[in-house]
Parts: sequence; C-alpha cells; structure tokens
Amino acid sequence: MVVASLKQKIMKEYVGDRMKAVIPAAGLGVRFLPLTKDMPKEMLPVVHKPTIQYVVEEAVSSGIKDILIITGRGKRSIEDHFDRSLELENVLGNNGRTEDLEEIIRIANMANIHYLRQKVPLGLGDAVLLARQHVGNEPFAVMLGDTINLSKVPVVKQLIDMHAELGGSIIAVEPVSRDKVQDYGIIKGTNISDNLYDIEDLVEKPSPEEAPSDMGITGTYVLSPRIFDCLERTPPGRGGEIQLTDALRLLSKEEKVYGLKFEGRRYDIGDKLGWLKTTMELALEDPELGPQLSEYLQLLMAQQR
Ligand code: G1P
Repeated sequence: MVVASLKQKIMKEYVGDRMKAVIPAAGLGVRFLPLTKDMPKEMLPVVHKPTIQYVVEEAVSSGIKDILIITGRGKRSIEDHFDRSLELENVLGNNGRTEDLEEIIRIANMANIHYLRQKVPLGLGDAVLLARQHVGNEPFAVMLGDTINLSKVPVVKQLIDMHAELGGSIIAVEPVSRDKVQDYGIIKGTNISDNLYDIEDLVEKPSPEEAPSDMGITGTYVLSPRIFDCLERTPPGRGGEIQLTDALRLLSKEEKVYGLKFEGRRYDIGDKLGWLKTTMELALEDPELGPQLSEYLQLLMAQQR
C-alpha cells in the first residue's frame, strides 16, 4: 500500500516534470473589439497582471518547465512581457526599487518559453497542431491564454495527476447554464465517479436543443500525442475553423478521453462582461485594494438605486 502510493507520487512528479504546456494565444479577440484590434486579449490586465501571466504561473506551479505559446500577428507584447528589460531593470535598481526589480526578473525567468506564430487564424485545433514538432510523442498540456483558473491545487496539476493515474487524455469540465452551451464545447459522458466522466462524444458550441449535456469544456487539457493525428484528419467545423473539440471527438473513438470536474474557479476574460467580473472579483480579494473597492462599489450601488 505504502509502496504503491509512493510509486504513484513519484509517477505524478515525473509526469509533471516532463510535461510541456502549449498556450494558444493567437485568437483575434473579436468579442473585445476595438480594444483587441492591436492589443492581444491575453495581455488584458486583471488587477496588476496580464491574463497570460496567470496562465504561465499556473503551469509553472504545476511543475511544467517548458511552455510553447502560439502567437500571431499583433501579439509581440506577449513575448516582451516574458523577456528581460535591462533598461527598466537599471532604472529600478538605481532607484532602490528592489521588490519591483526582483519581480520583473522573476517573470522573465519563470520558465523556458518558446514562441511560434500561427500565420493564418484557422482555429484552436490548427494552433494546437502547430505544436506537434515541439511536443513530440509525449502527452502535453493545453491551457487557453484567455482563461484564468484559481484553485488550491492548480487545475492543470489536477489533470496531470489524473493522467498519471488513468493515462489517456483529460479535459477540465464544469456545468454551464443551458443558455450558455452554445459558447462551449460540450461533452457527453458517463460518470465514473462524482467528478470524473468517461467521454463518449463531444460537440463544439451546440444549440441548447442539440447539447448532449450541460458539461462544458473550460479550456485546460492534458492530451495524448495521438491528438495530432486526429487534428490532421479534422475538417473545418464551427465557424469554418479547425476545432480542437472535433479532433477530440475522433480521439475519443480511438483512446480514452476523460472529463474532470475540477476543484476551483475559472474565469474567461475573452468577452467584456467576463473580464469585468474577473477583474472585480480578484480585486475584491486583494488585501490592499479589496476593502476600498468594496466601499466604493457599495456607494456606487446606493447611488444607482
Ligand atoms: C474554446 C473551445 C471550446 C471551449 C472554450 C472554453 O472556444 O473551442 O470548446 O469550451 O474555448 O473557453 P472559444 O472560447 O475559444 O471560442
């Protein structure tokens, strides 16, 4: 028993250590125009950090050391954010702003970050397929660049641990309301346990009538490398784009694909309301900003009445 659990612990650490993450961040951000005309939605600030920094930090705190970000035209500021800025470092150093200096150097040294550009916006599936050569023949994580997860155990770590136990591919899912199913990939599966589904089918953004369940794909995945073959065979789907969900559908016919109802909260900053809610909620939780913001919001609400 002890040996078995020790073995499992070693296995989990081994898998986490070797696993690469792919962060697709090439989307055009059309739900947030005109702001995203020239600015990546992944760089939208949530309190004091750009969204994609939360994503990279989740990967790093899960033991992932190698990250490939799929970018595109107009996304240069993402690379600059994770790069050293010697000029700024000099100024901060000379002004004795040691904490800020340490923080910006930490951000630049967090992980081995690689970049690849998706030249034509052909969809999430196409962006993931671009990672094939970098990833090789190993399971890997996919974490959407516009989705923030907050949890005690990082969500991608929860998936990595489940993968170490079960193998196959694991997708983070959560219940979504009926009127929102058309914004998500939706799974059809049977319960293995309270929070785990054996996935039989998946549909990208179905109408409420077509939706096979209310369990939505939230944007964090641990995938078998076989997904690349499936992506090669996936024709354009919803919106004329190559959909990762359609490739997962093919994969689920060939290998095990599980859905994990993870522990934690997920925020999608890709649309205006989602971003506002995320910013408010996280700012309210911030020990410095929270109390003052809460007071201000209460005042504002009272004036609205
Ligand atoms: C993508 C996926 C979808 C998933 C969603 C989560 O869609 O295609 O299956 O449910 O992310 O945010 P997007 O939001 O990029 O249109």
